[in-house]
Amino acid sequence: MQKLEIQGEKKLYGTIEISGSKNATLPILAATILTNKKVVISNIPIVKDVETMVELLRTLGSTIKLNKKSKKIEILNKKNLKTFAPYHLLKTMRAGVLVLGPLLSKYKIAKVSLPGGCAIGSRPINFHLSALKKMGANIKIKNGYIIASVKENLKGCLIKFPKVSVGATENVLIASCLAKGKTSLRNCSLEPEVGDLIIFLKKLGCKIKKVGKRGFDVMGIKKLKPAKHKVIFDRIETGTYIIASALTRGHIKIKNISPKIISTEISLLKKMGVNIIKKSNYIVVSCLKKLKSTSIVTKPYPGFPTDLQAQMTVLMTRAEGISKIKESIFENRFMHVSELRRMGAQIDIKGNTAKIFGNSKLNGAEVMATDLRASVCLILAGLVARNKTVVNRIYHLDRGYEKIEEKLSKCGAQIKRLR
Ligand code: UD1
Repeated sequence: MQKLEIQGEKKLYGTIEISGSKNATLPILAATILTNKKVVISNIPIVKDVETMVELLRTLGSTIKLNKKSKKIEILNKKNLKTFAPYHLLKTMRAGVLVLGPLLSKYKIAKVSLPGGCAIGSRPINFHLSALKKMGANIKIKNGYIIASVKENLKGCLIKFPKVSVGATENVLIASCLAKGKTSLRNCSLEPEVGDLIIFLKKLGCKIKKVGKRGFDVMGIKKLKPAKHKVIFDRIETGTYIIASALTRGHIKIKNISPKIISTEISLLKKMGVNIIKKSNYIVVSCLKKLKSTSIVTKPYPGFPTDLQAQMTVLMTRAEGISKIKESIFENRFMHVSELRRMGAQIDIKGNTAKIFGNSKLNGAEVMATDLRASVCLILAGLVARNKTVVNRIYHLDRGYEKIEEKLSKCGAQIKRLR
């Protein structure tokens, strides 16, 4: 199994180009099931989850050209697709379940494995299923599969999600594009990745209107158009490199982003003492002052993202005083803490709140990654720790971070993959 070895205490200087967003690419790829017209998607991050989604679409019968060098995908669904999404392609990637809505909407039938993914909580898909049922689908769970069908078309109706869910919003939004009549979705996710999916769906000709604070109305249509789309930047990757620069007291220019989309993160980090200069499509991050402690609560966008919580924990170990993180999205997302403690961090956990004692000196150690964002937090810890850190089980990392060793090495990090 591959590992990453990091020699810590190196300041990072240089420029990092941010990749396209994995979490925007996955629903956009799923949405291509809706159309038989040519679709070209650019700025695709070449990471394992995207490759898995491409494999899933190919298994369904999509004709896909993936150009890894130009980061472009061309898709043309010449014929009818198959409607069976097998377990081996969904067990490592929860977003695979996003093929359910489009398959059901276009082909009226789907058999999709219940998904796997990061072990950060129980992560049910009840909101996805109850919404599709309300739209007229007949859904059963049998032998680990979702077996769904609908007589004619899915029918538009009012759907109010009980809790904000990114995946449920995306699945049902995509499904409602070919439904009969108007689907009114309420209490939706407003994550920028959902916004990017909507931009893509509109390019296909779908009729989607924002209503009120967290609502979308979708008027079902019958025919879609060909489309070209450039995927939005990865805001979680951006946040991770901002933290890397601040932690190592380096100086990094972070390119290909839109700072206004991450204004919550930027203002919080600035309050902690991180120096961030904003331009229209890049930022420059440095940190000369002592970092101040702070408190955060993870929330749906525009709140502080749960996907940056683990990385923030590492930064807080270096701040003065006690910081707090309340994780309000997932019930089991502090698994990185026990590994950070092995490196010398002092962190107490009570329920869904972590209390992080600052001014900790971290020491290199052999550690184990448990999920995608936990893996990257251990790399961040390794960058500032004394001596050597070895991060095991980095297959989690490869699901979502494009060329991380290359990007960090270019800025002076001493990091290498052990095969
Ligand atoms: C997406 C992101 C993930 C991020 C998360 C929250 C992708 C591919 N993944 O995951 O990186 O951490 O949003 O920002 O975009 N829930 C239910 N029932 C459901 C659906 C969700 O109870 O049917 C709960 C979940 O257990 C969780 C909360 O709702 O507590 C939010 O989950 P959700 O937004 O759906 O996360 P994902 O879409 O899986």
